Amino acid sequence: MTTASTPGKIILFGEHAVVYGRPALAIPVTQVHADAEILDSDSKGIWIHASGVNLHAELNTLPPDHPIASVIHNFLFLSRQSPSPFGRGVRGEGRFPNLQISITSTIPVASGLGSGAAVTVALVRALAAHLHYPMTDEEVNAFAYDIEKLHHGTPSGIDNTVVTYAKPVYFIKSQPIEIFKVGAPFTILIGDTGISAPTKESVTDVKKLWEADKSKWESVFDRVGEIAKSAREKIETGDWRLLGELMNQNHALLQEMTVSLPELDLLVEAAKNAGALGAKLSGGGRGGNMIALVEQEKAGEVSSALTSAGAKRTLITTIS
Ligand code: MEV
Repeated sequence: MTTASTPGKIILFGEHAVVYGRPALAIPVTQVHADAEILDSDSKGIWIHASGVNLHAELNTLPPDHPIASVIHNFLFLSRQSPSPFGRGVRGEGRFPNLQISITSTIPVASGLGSGAAVTVALVRALAAHLHYPMTDEEVNAFAYDIEKLHHGTPSGIDNTVVTYAKPVYFIKSQPIEIFKVGAPFTILIGDTGISAPTKESVTDVKKLWEADKSKWESVFDRVGEIAKSAREKIETGDWRLLGELMNQNHALLQEMTVSLPELDLLVEAAKNAGALGAKLSGGGRGGNMIALVEQEKAGEVSSALTSAGAKRTLITTIS
């Protein structure tokens, strides 16, 4: 049996503008994860079980562009094309073994926590290990980015990158990844609206705005990029108290991009009123999660305020 586990993620600063080449910061969230388990089997074919989405099917009965099937097809294609330089690989074996693949995830779907990218990364790592086709992190990341492009149109690549490396990343599209340092630990509270919102839709809508008035939106994205840069400095020097105001500014710009919702704004306001140092939506928006920067001793109070304001669940994560 082979297993692989991949964390969820949150974007601290810079979502959407990152699609247009501005920097963004994201961190892994290990309290939630996607897991893949692979077993050799006596039943013919490659069977996929994902109870969370009520899926029990043989690979070839699924449409080729099904999110899970596409990961397996792409992996089989890749491993046939290019035998791994590290080992025997699966090339030339003629056919693939019969497998039972189970996928489970505690990351809510379409909530801005990187569920799609995490499932892809866990699954490809489990396949690579089970079929003796070692892949480097760079290869896994490039593979997951191709899958993101298949399903999300024009992703920046930040989601697959942060979940692949499971480290805090300062990300600029098409540039080598930078891992950022954390000068002093800080605490983030994550509040879930419970509203599922596919990233593809909000990314498409922001693109329509940008196409209609490029100079306006380029300058909005510039402002977001400046916020992300200055947030990195504050995090690296341990001045995290000043991050709250940057979060508020970033949220206002996301509202301008029309990707917030009254439900998200309500949680953002509730967090601030209960003593958070700042708050913003996180990820694609239009639902999903918001984040708030809190002093550790206030986390319980702010979490209760979020629940009273309608959050379906909250998570506390410390970045160190
Ligand atoms: C989604 O987690 C982040 C977005 O910026 C989209 C992307 O970067 O691909 C909204």
